[in-house]
Amino acid sequence: MKERPSVLLVDDSRDMLELLRRYMNNMGLTPFTTNNVVDAIEVLEQGPVDLVITDLNMPDVHGTQLVRYIAQHFPQVPVLVVTGYPDVQVAVDVMKMGAVEFLVKPVTQDELRNAVEKALGANTTPPADEPAGTIGIPGVIGRSVAMQEVFRVIERTRNNQATVLVTGESGTGKEVVARAIHYNSDRSSAPFLAVNCGAIPDQLLESELFGHTKGAFTGATTNRAGFFQAADGGTLFLDEIGNASAAVQAKLLRAIQDKEITMLGATKSQRVSVRLISASNSNLLEMVRTGTFREDLYYRLNLINIHLPALRDRAEDIPLLIHHFNSKFCKEMGKKPLRMSAPVLDALQGYSWPGNVRELENFIHRSVIMKDGAIAMDDLPEAMKASVPERTASKELRSIAEMEKLHIQHVLEATGNNKTKAAEILGIDRKTLREKLK
Ligand SMILES: Nc1ncnc2c1ncn2[C@@H]1O[C@H](COP(=O)(O)OP(=O)(O)OP(=O)(O)O)[C@@H](O)[C@H]1O
Ligand SMILES: [Mg+2]
Repeated sequence: MKERPSVLLVDDSRDMLELLRRYMNNMGLTPFTTNNVVDAIEVLEQGPVDLVITDLNMPDVHGTQLVRYIAQHFPQVPVLVVTGYPDVQVAVDVMKMGAVEFLVKPVTQDELRNAVEKALGANTTPPADEPAGTIGIPGVIGRSVAMQEVFRVIERTRNNQATVLVTGESGTGKEVVARAIHYNSDRSSAPFLAVNCGAIPDQLLESELFGHTKGAFTGATTNRAGFFQAADGGTLFLDEIGNASAAVQAKLLRAIQDKEITMLGATKSQRVSVRLISASNSNLLEMVRTGTFREDLYYRLNLINIHLPALRDRAEDIPLLIHHFNSKFCKEMGKKPLRMSAPVLDALQGYSWPGNVRELENFIHRSVIMKDGAIAMDDLPEAMKASVPERTASKELRSIAEMEKLHIQHVLEATGNNKTKAAEILGIDRKTLREKLK
């Protein structure tokens, strides 16, 4: 990515523009703001713009006009659409016109950051200074055995349509993985759409997913496409799938089995080609057992399962993630990366991170804003400091037999499993060693 990419923000709401401007500044981009399409086109004509983020519903000229104009005159400029979700039909059209992605208001900084990075990454070379040891899939940091397995599975999903279920605690990176699957696949130039099944009211979810015809229910004044149509050719990410109602579950099952969907109120079905990735941090299998989630759907959605272990269970990734977020946020703020002493790193690595990668990311972000130079032990919250003595304490509280076992293992490892040498170092004869090994 080049030094400070410029981004043109277009929204008729001043509050939204301010929010977006703040996000963009935080992300190290130079924002230009306009509250209408005509001004936006003027900005585009004047200078190089690397990215456009636009609203759709604006008085005078609708955002779709801007998307069309950019597609025709500045096809190299990626466009992100940020819209309220009643605009699904329009979103289908703008996707066809070439918008890279659409995000549904309210958007979080996380979501925007991911979308912006993907949009800019698609047009630029990735930064050369990825931390050493980053392997596998761009944008997904980790080198633990567990994460390497995740990378291996993501690779397996590359050029097929197999459904993927991503499970794991909150903040472990389920959405990161879903995006990685999409952008590594042969569908990467088609839309990636994320639907939070928990955020859309039950009675609306069905029409949002599959669309509805005019008159399908009171208030349905026009035909409207749903997320399935909008994601045609691309990927639909069903987040918090555990919240889908029984009716929606039945419809999803049918959509997967027949590769066809039926709009609410329609008599005919239509064919769609959509890769489905679902995510859940509740235990779906338990829901199957208790009868709240359909077993047949569970297996259909779960052709490939990717389980993301909690961060505390892959502590080897913690230093890598710290390094990644430290350099990323410092770069955005034009600062030198914060230094951390070994005991501080130890404390961070020993902490249990109940909020997983998200918590770690937020912690580093906050530190980068609040601190200059270094993070000291005193800067750590009590819960993180506490993790150091705890670890030492647990070592001291082992029994003699346990310590002996560990020590023997250690010496054997160090001698390359040479029992004669190990016995010599341990000061016992080989027979005693053999007995202890039993
Ligand atoms: N392996 C990773 N590499 C880099 N960033 C990551 C990784 N995993 C997670 N993150 C970051 O952590 C944050 C949380 O990730 P994400 O939103 O994917 O979690 P999630 O599992 O979907 O959480 P939830 O269940 O709460 O929705 C994001 O900002 C994401 O960019
Ligand atoms: Mg998520």
